[in-house]
Amino acid sequence: MRKPFVAGNWKMNTDSLSSVSLAKAVADGVMELAGERLDVAVIPPFVYISAVVGTLSTTHIAVGAQDVYFERQGAFTGEISSSMLKDIGCAYVLCGHSERRHIIKEDDELINRKVSAAISGGLLPILCVGELIEQRKADETEQVVSNQLEKGLEGLSEEKLSAVTLAYEPVWAIGTGLTATPEQAQQVQSMMRELLSDMYDGQLADEIRILYGGSVKPDNAAVLMSQPDVDGLLVGGASLKSEDFIAIIKAAC
Ligand code: 13P
Repeated sequence: MRKPFVAGNWKMNTDSLSSVSLAKAVADGVMELAGERLDVAVIPPFVYISAVVGTLSTTHIAVGAQDVYFERQGAFTGEISSSMLKDIGCAYVLCGHSERRHIIKEDDELINRKVSAAISGGLLPILCVGELIEQRKADETEQVVSNQLEKGLEGLSEEKLSAVTLAYEPVWAIGTGLTATPEQAQQVQSMMRELLSDMYDGQLADEIRILYGGSVKPDNAAVLMSQPDVDGLLVGGASLKSEDFIAIIKAAC
């Protein structure tokens, strides 16, 4: 059985006061559930990670980062390494989020290096994949997602793969209010699991958690989670409102 996992990606939102108050409100709302019934993580902007780690130190809510650089240290102005994130108490890191693929123009090779470096540095990467609306309309979803998955995981041993969580986030569903139907999410996510089974082995593929992300709200969380290959939710906008995020967490377990 895969333990459900709900993560809130705060993106470039909050400030020093609201990041701490949001984390505290989430902790108060799900204290008994987090770690027991499901895994919960919040993913603040880099600069608020330490404060949020401090706020959540007595809870079972994990903290993640939204990105990482693949080099360990050195002259890489502006970048943050996995060992730095680990050092300040991060457990997870997003790799290949669609906003980094499409706005910042990260490619699969760079994302693959980040996934690998994250694991080497002791972090648990959440590798995000997903198609654009044009690609879905052209019936290319399977091809695009498979390609992102194969390239994102290239060279990763079975042992390393077990540190990875996957997230299917169709780009057209992110921040648009257009959620994928539960059937659409299930179709892609079961295809992803089959591909993993071909790339590695069936048991490992069975153990990997695959999250769905894209306009997840309190009223669609349970039905998305009812799908056999939807093991959790990666929440953007709704994770910025504690009552919505708490409702989503409760619906997911
Ligand atoms: P929204 O929930 O705002 O659509 O964002 C999803 C997302 O990108 C999470 O990483």
